[in-house]
Amino acid sequence: MMKFQGNHILSVSQFDREAISRILAISAQMTPYAMRQKRCHVLDGAILNNLFFEASTRTRVSFGTAFNLLGGFVRETVGQENTSLSKGESLFDTAQVISGYSDVIAMRHPKMHAVSEFAKGSTVPVINGGDGANEHPTQALLDLFTIQSEMTRFNKGIDKLNITLMGDLKHGRTVHSLSKLLSLYNDVKITMISPKALQMPDNVISTLTNAGHEVIVTDEMEGNLACDIIYQTRIQQERFASKDEAELYRGHFSLNKEAYKQYCQDHTVIMHPLPRDSRPEANELDIDLNDLDNLAIFRQAQNGVLVRMALFALTLGVEDKLLQHEKTITWHTNKTK
Ligand code: CP
Repeated sequence: MMKFQGNHILSVSQFDREAISRILAISAQMTPYAMRQKRCHVLDGAILNNLFFEASTRTRVSFGTAFNLLGGFVRETVGQENTSLSKGESLFDTAQVISGYSDVIAMRHPKMHAVSEFAKGSTVPVINGGDGANEHPTQALLDLFTIQSEMTRFNKGIDKLNITLMGDLKHGRTVHSLSKLLSLYNDVKITMISPKALQMPDNVISTLTNAGHEVIVTDEMEGNLACDIIYQTRIQQERFASKDEAELYRGHFSLNKEAYKQYCQDHTVIMHPLPRDSRPEANELDIDLNDLDNLAIFRQAQNGVLVRMALFALTLGVEDKLLQHEKTITWHTNKTK
């Protein structure tokens, strides 16, 4: 059985199916705390250092919220320019110092593998919140949690899933990590729709084909959306040499309600790691989809809190102590699922 306590979470390659089942089960146990039905300050007094050296809304805030919900304190550092990395300090030295101030660290960095480099100098667990175009393991876990919970409504599971990944599959780290996790399941059909220049990296495709999955690579949206899940992604402008180059690909695969009704199945669930680019020239997921029950994007973002709570509980070794720390809440809340 995989040991979580005291260990870094840097790549989805660390996980086997048993470890993923454990993470997803503990994530589900976090629901009453995230929904403010009960509270559980099992990490009372612990300190998370959130180091975000690239823009983020969901990952940074949901890591912080997850830690606060378990009773811990959160310190935030945003932007390398506000740290001594900008004075030439190495990631190793920074890690030696910050880990002395922390019980756990969450980190996002624009450079591939920089979080792993940082982790080598850390004396506490480091959780990868996204490293360049490489990986986004916690996003992939919350995506799997979302797929599992959305598919339950249709008596389906992750095995035998028919999923379409669409958009910038070359630079989108979330689809890299999700594909690697899906390779652990059985009989998955994955259709990859992207401009030819933004196709999924070969090593990710071979991970899936070596696992026996059917992979279709195409630049056609029509005829490829009648699936269980559409996972739309953004053109990752920040990974292109110039804004003009990114402009070449924006808006190629916009999905709106008319296209959904024409090409999708009644049960097709729409996911997106967010942010969705809603500028008219991109319009990845039109706002006319907002009233569609099968638009799961905001449920998906909420699931990030559950999964990150589970990862903190596991890495800090308190996953079996939740019930003994449970209390009722005393304030008014309108939260509904
Ligand atoms: N999905 C995701 O990583 O969103 P943020 O960039 O806002 O954290």
